[in-house]
Amino acid sequence: MRIGILTSGGDCPGINATIRGVCKTAINYYGMEVVGIHSGFQGLLTKDVESITDKSLSGLLNLGGTMLGTSREKPFKKGGVVSDVDKPSLILQNIREMELDCVVCIGGNGTQKTAAKFAAMGVNIVSVPKTIDNDLASTDVTFGFNTAIDVVTEALDRLHTTAESHHRIMLCEVMGRNAGWIALESGIAGSADVILIPEIPYDLNKIIDKVKERESCGKNFTIIVVAEGAKPKDGNVVISKIVKDSPDPIRLGGIGNKLAGDIECLMKDKEVRCTVLGHIQRGGNTCTYDRILSTRYGVAAVEMIVNGEFGKMVCLKGDTITSDTLENVIGQKTKNVNPDGELVNMAKKIGISFAD
Ligand code: F6P
Repeated sequence: MRIGILTSGGDCPGINATIRGVCKTAINYYGMEVVGIHSGFQGLLTKDVESITDKSLSGLLNLGGTMLGTSREKPFKKGGVVSDVDKPSLILQNIREMELDCVVCIGGNGTQKTAAKFAAMGVNIVSVPKTIDNDLASTDVTFGFNTAIDVVTEALDRLHTTAESHHRIMLCEVMGRNAGWIALESGIAGSADVILIPEIPYDLNKIIDKVKERESCGKNFTIIVVAEGAKPKDGNVVISKIVKDSPDPIRLGGIGNKLAGDIECLMKDKEVRCTVLGHIQRGGNTCTYDRILSTRYGVAAVEMIVNGEFGKMVCLKGDTITSDTLENVIGQKTKNVNPDGELVNMAKKIGISFAD
């Protein structure tokens, strides 16, 4: 068999480990040929590909980013580098011309939607769930998430010492799009006092109450983790920019600095500082958990190809690797934090405020 592999959407640690898992199993164990497609679906439009050999696979397990490059190209939407053509038809033609028996698509929600459409058009697709946001339905965990929360947790540890010395309120804005997983889990692990997530709109006065409650028992500093998609009860998310002509135009960001200003207005004697972690959460080395999960996903994807299980995404349920149909994955809402779930309730019991 000759399989194509692509990585699409925002990168994250664990992509290279997944590529390695797929390729080692496909090339060395099953004797398949693997074609690496550059820059996601863009490479399928322009036939920008490379042949992958075992030699290409050294040094990938820990390496962040993606050796294949990525893009936010969504061929069923207008925009991107190739316009004015019927992009899906061109891709079908290119897949035929490159004699690819199937395509492994590594990506998040947007990628799975595109993959599902090509599967419905008859392309043999197997996909792998990737995103630091951990917001894909059908799987308990996406790879990249655990590395991201390790990065944020370390940042919170570092913010603690300086916040305490200077008696400051320190905000840390984290990614996650419209899901609060990164803020919630890193906030718990990094001992945040307030966690603000999109799933629980906040009340500014409740944040102030928490700061005052801490001060009343001699704790003159407060650590607040705020997800980029968090919003006040009576307000909206903050958008940092709209990338014109991008198939995926909205970039969230800016809530941390806005909130710092809002708090300073109400607590004039306090100094509030905001750290925006941004892409640091997505770059760098892959953590141990993600190295193992990515490898499991990569090997399982090839097993699915061997068994002819196409039109499906590899998933983790409990500790078991399984799969779900792409139709089912994209038919569900994104996976969000349950405001009444165990993690939120547990956090509340140990005194963390969600300002609700
Ligand atoms: O989906 C992953 C993610 O990192 C989100 O958490 C974030 O909102 C977005 O991608 C940022 O996208 P970009 O890298 O294009 O700025």
